[in-house]
This record gives sequence, structure tokens and C-alpha cells, in this order.
Amino acid sequence: MKTFKRVLNIIMVILTVTLLWSCNSEGAKKAQRIREIKIGVTLYKESDLFISSIAENLIDIAKEKESSEDIKIILNIADSNGSTVNETKQVEKFINQKYDVICVNLVDRTAASTIIDKAKLANIPVIFFNREPVEEDMQRWNKIYYVGAEAEKSGKMQAEIILDAYKENSNIVDKNSDGKIQYVMLEGEAGHQDSSIRTEYCIKSMIENGLEVEKLSDDIANWENSQAREKMIQWIKSYGDDIEVVFSNNDDMALGAINAYDSLNIDIVDRPLIVGVDGIQEALQQIKEGKMIGTVISDAKEQASAIFNIAFSLGKNGDIDECIDLLDGKYFKVKHTKVLKENVELFYN
Ligand code: BGC
Ligand code: CA
Repeated sequence: MKTFKRVLNIIMVILTVTLLWSCNSEGAKKAQRIREIKIGVTLYKESDLFISSIAENLIDIAKEKESSEDIKIILNIADSNGSTVNETKQVEKFINQKYDVICVNLVDRTAASTIIDKAKLANIPVIFFNREPVEEDMQRWNKIYYVGAEAEKSGKMQAEIILDAYKENSNIVDKNSDGKIQYVMLEGEAGHQDSSIRTEYCIKSMIENGLEVEKLSDDIANWENSQAREKMIQWIKSYGDDIEVVFSNNDDMALGAINAYDSLNIDIVDRPLIVGVDGIQEALQQIKEGKMIGTVISDAKEQASAIFNIAFSLGKNGDIDECIDLLDGKYFKVKHTKVLKENVELFYN
């Protein structure tokens, strides 16, 4: 009997130790689960005002999330400075350093395949943003996503801003009262979805809504303030007061056009109506001052928040949370809002 009790005791001790050991290892596993999420971001060009605004918002959102969740978030933002070679190297670095998710603002939106293939091989999901890969590339893998704006809508809304002004007082727009709107168009980079689509839908919308338009000139100013300023100075020399509207594919080029008028000391009442897209603070300031009739907000904060939420969910669960509503399981397109002098205060910080 004594021997039996001793054996039973030994068995009990073994069982307890085993149980304790397995609990501890469960604890160790849990501790492993609460880990860090590494998000790598490459920007096509950090000096781009709209892109830097997305990056700043990303940093703020990541900080907030880190303090509300018990997970360390490493957010590494790199500037490709307009070079595809730099961008590919940065992506390779993120892959080698085992980042959980890579967010890419492509330098060349038609050349996403190299990045996709490398990421796929390493099984690291990629979120493209602002510079949309072509459809064929988006189909290369099921772990690629795109966050951007609705280019068609922003073009239409630019037209609406001018159409509404015309309806209210046609003389404000059609200054020479010839029944046509003489315009110039400042375009973003060639091949960027937001340049060609905004241009097309803006003019199409003007015409569909019954306004006759006459293009005096259009040119590519690559989203840049200084290039737009130079073009505008040339156009003012060639067309002077004939220019009734300046459509600009983004705000920074619209600001360049304003600079041109400022530098030539042309009175505000003698200037055309200038309309942009993006809603950057500098443009909202010009709307307040009456130098720009309006802009279309392409919410940088909401875009950053969509990029971050997708990245966080992929990093944490390896999948997309149900509450993130993606079009075709891949696309997130942010809605636009028109801003005029009447509502600018709502958006101006
Ligand atoms: C924005 C531009 C920006 C460009 C960069 C566009 O969506 O409207 O301001 O320069 O993206 O890719
Ligand atoms: Ca006219």
C-alpha cells in the first residue's frame, strides 16, 4: 500500500510539473503574440506637399494607435526622391529586415511588377497609395491593395465650382460675355491617373452641363508650383485678360499660378478664377483671401488613415479586418468635398 501511495505521489508531482510547464509555455506564447508591427513606407518624392501631408498624418495616426494598443509600431518612411532605383532598394531593405507590411507610393505607376514579385516571394503584403498601379499589376497577387482618391469625381467637382459661379453671376466667369469659357489647364505628371482623369472629367462635365468652353492652352507642370508659375507667366503674356478660368490638376500648381499673378502685380479683380484639387492648407488660405475660387479636398488624413488601418490589420492578423470595406477586396477610394469661401473655415486649421 505504501509503495502504491509513493508511486501515486510521484505521478502527482510529475503531473503538476507538466501542467506548470505547459502553462508557462502558454504564457510565453502569449508574450510572443504581443509583439511589434513593422510598417515600411516609400514616398515617390517627400517634397511633394500632398504626399508629405499623407506622411505626417501617418506618423500621427501610428503614435495614437501605439498608445491605445499594447503593440509597438515601427513606422519607417523613406524618400525615393523621384528615383525608381532608390525605391526598389528601399523595398528590398524592408523585405530583408522582415517588415510586416510595405506601403508604396510608386515613382513610376506603370512599373509595379518588380516590387510586387519581390514582396510576393517574401510573402509581405503591399499597400500602394496615391499612384495607382495598372489593373494588370493589381491582379498579380491577392495581397496587394490600393488607397487613393476618386479622380473622376474631383474633376467633376472642379467643373461644378465654376458652373455654380456661372449660374450665380455669368459675368464673373464669362468676363468678355462671348458665351464661352476661355480656360487654361495646368496638368500634373504625364501618365499619372489623377492628371489625365481629372482633366478629362472636368472639361467633359463643363460641356455636359451646357457651358461652351474654349481651351486657350494646356501644359504639364508635373504637380509643381515653380513649373506652374513659369507656364502661367507665359500664358499671361500670350493671352492676358482672355483667360477666364485656370483649372489646375492640384493645389500646388494653382498656388504657382497665383504666384505668377502676384509677381506681375495684377489686381485680384482682373484675374481669372483659379481652381485646384487636394485641399492643402496653403490653398485654403488663398481661398480665404479670394485669390482662388475653390478646391476639391482629396483628404490626406483619410487616405493616411485607410493606409494605416489596412497595414495594421495585415500586420496584426495577417488579414483585412471585416470593418475595412474594400472595393473588389483591393481598393479604397476616398471621397471628395468641394471647398469655397463659404465653407473654407470648416477645413482650415
Ligand atoms: C495630388 C497631387 C500630388 C500627386 C502625387 C495627386 O493625387 O493631387 O498634389 O502631387 O498626387 O502623386
Ligand atoms: Ca468668355
